Amino acid sequence: MKRVSLIQVGFGTVGGAVIELVLRHRALWRTRFDLDVSIAAVAGRSGAIVSDNPTGLDDSTLRDLVESRRSKAAAERPAGDSVADALPRIVDGGTTIVIDAASGDETANIDVRALELGAGAVLSNKAPLALAKADPRAKALWSHAGTTGRLKYEATCGAGLPVISTLQALLDTGDEMLEISGALSGTFGAIFSAVGTGTSYSDAVRDAQAQGYTEPDPRDDLSGLDVARKGLILARTMGQMADLDDIVIHSLVPKHLEEATVDEFLERLTDQDFDIGRQAAESLATDTSLKYIVNWSPDQGVTVGLRQIPRSTVLGALQGPENIVSFRTRRYDQYPCVVSGPGAGAAVTAAGMVADMLTLAHRIAR
Ligand SMILES: NC(=O)c1ccc[n+]([C@@H]2O[C@H](COP(=O)([O-])OP(=O)(O)OC[C@H]3O[C@@H](n4cnc5c(N)ncnc54)[C@H](OP(=O)(O)O)[C@@H]3O)[C@@H](O)[C@H]2O)c1
Repeated sequence: MKRVSLIQVGFGTVGGAVIELVLRHRALWRTRFDLDVSIAAVAGRSGAIVSDNPTGLDDSTLRDLVESRRSKAAAERPAGDSVADALPRIVDGGTTIVIDAASGDETANIDVRALELGAGAVLSNKAPLALAKADPRAKALWSHAGTTGRLKYEATCGAGLPVISTLQALLDTGDEMLEISGALSGTFGAIFSAVGTGTSYSDAVRDAQAQGYTEPDPRDDLSGLDVARKGLILARTMGQMADLDDIVIHSLVPKHLEEATVDEFLERLTDQDFDIGRQAAESLATDTSLKYIVNWSPDQGVTVGLRQIPRSTVLGALQGPENIVSFRTRRYDQYPCVVSGPGAGAAVTAAGMVADMLTLAHRIAR
């Protein structure tokens, strides 16, 4: 039986769902793949719980951790142990894969260290992969990101949708990329679908926030930074070590509201209603849809912003929060290769991470 120990970094919405998936399916993996997957450590911002047992943390400890995070019982969360200290010990014990479902670039240190020690890393966290190219951690991470590398990151673009693996397969088979266009934000999808049916922009943002589509501070979505990071990851997957600073981002957060409180920002959103309403009316008249998209072309690199997309295209026809990416290539020229479906949510994102983990495990487990 091959064995794999996981180190779960971040056990919020996505990380918690990864833990639950592993608990639910590892018996199946034992019989189907002769693969024994255990969870050796779980880390949050305040520290980690690490098992000294080769069979990993027991099921009830893991379930309690996930529940405590959900009920926000901070006192029950891991504290004390350092995952960085435990990492070499766990790697010494056998094949190890770090599952980075945290937020922010701090976890890049763990991801890089794991790769240096010969472990695998699976990320849904975009921030480490979007670090400036001058940061040695960016170079270290991306040097392991090829199809046969030990770093996998499908869930960073379109959650569980096969966006990165499709791009890699196209490139690996010698296809030439002519253009990538994607609606990769469920938040923008929900907002501009509502605007397209006559809702004012400010009401659409408030509704999206109430339905949980946006971050608690909607500016985190409306700045376009998250979409730009996805565009950067697509470009870097194609071997272009661009930087976020190279990307032209059309932010929907006016400069003068960047520092305002969330309530003040939401109140002042009505200032943008006229301009966005005018663009929506123009779209209606020209049979296009208003969409916040990421685009890549060999000439322009990555651009991110609000565009009017013909409704006759699959991109323009898509309504609601679903994601879509269209790859136009030498082979898929007249009819692009399209990947589409739900691009966020705990279940699909966790499944994307677990699929990456299994691919790596098949390759590196001993
Ligand atoms: N939710 C989705 O549908 C989705 C889809 C695709 C990608 N993603 C990405 O997946 C990641 C996780 O998303 P989420 O929705 O699960 O977020 P979340 O619910 O806010 O959970 C984030 C978790 O990361 C932990 N964390 C933050 N910084 C950390 C650090 N430096 N070291 C260790 N743990 C740290 C947090 O710890 P505490 O418990 O201490 O707060 C929390 O457990 C994010 O990067 C997100 O962009 C999410």
